[in-house]
Amino acid sequence: MISIAIMGHGVVGSGVAEIFATHKKKLFAAIGEEIDVKYILDLREFPDSPFADRFTKDFSKIANDLEVRVVVETMGGLHPAYEYVKECLSSGKSVVTSNKELVAAYGAELLAIASEQNANFLFEASVGGGIPIIRPINQCLVANNVSEIAGILNGTTNFILTKMFHEGMGFDEALKMAQELGYAERNPEADVEGHDACRKICILASLTFGKHIYPEAVHTEGITKITAADVEYAGEWGGVIKLIGSVKKLGKDTIDIIVAPMFVPNLSQLANIDDVFNGIMVRGDCTGDVVFYGRGAGKLPTASAVVADVIDSIKHLKSRKYLFWSDSDNGSVLPYEESVRAMYVRGVADDKAAAYDNAKAVFGGVHQLSRKNAAENELAFITEPMALSEFEEKLAKVDGFKAESVIRIGDL
Ligand code: HSE
Repeated sequence: MISIAIMGHGVVGSGVAEIFATHKKKLFAAIGEEIDVKYILDLREFPDSPFADRFTKDFSKIANDLEVRVVVETMGGLHPAYEYVKECLSSGKSVVTSNKELVAAYGAELLAIASEQNANFLFEASVGGGIPIIRPINQCLVANNVSEIAGILNGTTNFILTKMFHEGMGFDEALKMAQELGYAERNPEADVEGHDACRKICILASLTFGKHIYPEAVHTEGITKITAADVEYAGEWGGVIKLIGSVKKLGKDTIDIIVAPMFVPNLSQLANIDDVFNGIMVRGDCTGDVVFYGRGAGKLPTASAVVADVIDSIKHLKSRKYLFWSDSDNGSVLPYEESVRAMYVRGVADDKAAAYDNAKAVFGGVHQLSRKNAAENELAFITEPMALSEFEEKLAKVDGFKAESVIRIGDL
């Protein structure tokens, strides 16, 4: 019998406990041993829970119990999750977490401690919820030089953008619906401002390119400024707007990493990933594009990934799994102003024809977009690909035009 502990009995943690109870036989068959959830750490009371006798409020019970070989962290947030995980790893226990904030902030340090202690620190559930993505990148695609990863990494914003595109809802209305359905947090800032997607693309970039990329180094834009007009223009252009986390390898030591809303052409695999689903494209030199799709959030999908990591940790109690990246100073991140992309621009001009001619002259070729019911003075166009700094310089030179919205065109 192997004893484990679960820290945090929220949505994901309670799902983990549930799967260990409901899938006992299946999991026994996977490792040939019974798994005992010996402790569940939570400050709240759960007197009616079937696991009521396992609850403790005292972390030291878990830390000091030598029988506990694997600890699940589903508390969320940085503190005290970081301190608890560090203490568990330092004493040789393996840790499995779903906490993307923790991995994005402290992944390199925690992986180093795990390595010193010959323990495992696994976090499949931190990106893409129930979608396998960490293990595929680390194992199944290891023969590839990966040149790019691009994904819809946040379910809440994808739900909002889907409602805006398919049902013509405004941002506020769609956000309210997401909150009513329990997808968005009451404080939805981490989702709608792109921070959650940023943490996830940082984890994927760190894993893929071997050096820790910290969220602070990644230019991040959310979806709060997207309007119904932009969504309509994307449709007229032949695509949709998605919040994309993207990382591209540019040279030996340079990566172009960003989180931003982008126009995604209908032909892209990512264009049809709707509602709360996530989709992640990995471009390998041997495989070509591989796309992962599924439920990126939710109790049982996320818990499924956590439980799989626990099983893997138990299988590798003696021989550590190789999962590692080193710390870095973010020096490999291309300044975002140098990132090259075509741009969509929407704005207003008193003399639309003259402003469009000015835009053509300044940018050296732009493609005008139209939509039904546009105001008389509204002008929208797409530029050729160029560095953001060059784009901004040129845009300022377009006489008689006031830009109101700028969105990147994803080459996906
Ligand atoms: N808030 C996240 C999302 C939860 O909407 O995708 C899963 O990480």
